[in-house]
Amino acid sequence: MTNVTTKTVPAHLAIIMDGNGRWAQKRGLPRAMGHKKGAETVKEITRACGELGIKYLTLYAFSTENWQRPPEEVDTLMGLLRDYLKSDLKEIQENGVRIRFIGERYMLDSDIAGQMEKLEQETAANNKMTLCIALSYGSRQEIIAAARKIAAMAKAGQISPEDIDIKMFSDMLYTRDIPDPDLVLRTSGEQRVSNYLLWQLAYAELFFTPTLWPDFTKAELEAVLTDYSNRERRYGKV
Ligand code: IPE
Ligand code: IPE
Ligand code: MG
Repeated sequence: MTNVTTKTVPAHLAIIMDGNGRWAQKRGLPRAMGHKKGAETVKEITRACGELGIKYLTLYAFSTENWQRPPEEVDTLMGLLRDYLKSDLKEIQENGVRIRFIGERYMLDSDIAGQMEKLEQETAANNKMTLCIALSYGSRQEIIAAARKIAAMAKAGQISPEDIDIKMFSDMLYTRDIPDPDLVLRTSGEQRVSNYLLWQLAYAELFFTPTLWPDFTKAELEAVLTDYSNRERRYGKV
């Protein structure tokens, strides 16, 4: 049944922030400018999610496959990430945001990895919203890492194959303490998941908008949430 009066806000919104490059290209600017503007949108939308009562927000910031982009572009993105990691603590603390990172940390420079760990520790006790940033993240890689851990446990005789179930497998993923996303939003018009949270999205609602990430606004987010609140989720039942 749809409900137009009281809006159901997703507990967990996952976003694929896509279209920075095309935003810049359209304006005859270097791609780096699109990333810079996109980083501003990150702050604006994170703030908006807090205001709208979303408890978990996961942002796809950099994929495992994005390492294959030209070195200058990777450098630009890592530079923006450094700025982001340094500048935001005050507002993050004031808003009760707990920060988490998912992805292959060993791929990142040690100063970045260190700063990430520090942010996680400093915000660990916050409980208004969890901001999960997928960085150097690939879902297939995450699933393989989980399979390896489980295989090693079985080989060591700590578990038997029958012990492997959905809960146990989920507990081996980076997202072990985060509920599955209710809604996935991708900007820029692409309608694909690009190695994002493949296991976790089993029953997520999908939403695609042609808006490029740097142009995405709180007003559009609210429209997306209205659409979501009118959907019927059935989880395979009648
Ligand atoms: C998203 O924008 C940012 C990252 C993937 C890091 P893109 O850089 O993919 O922008 P488009 O898709 O080329 O427009
Ligand atoms: C997905 O976007 C990754 C991020 C938004 C960080 P891409 O632009 O890398 O994905 P494809 O190449 O269009 O599938
Ligand atoms: Mg893209």
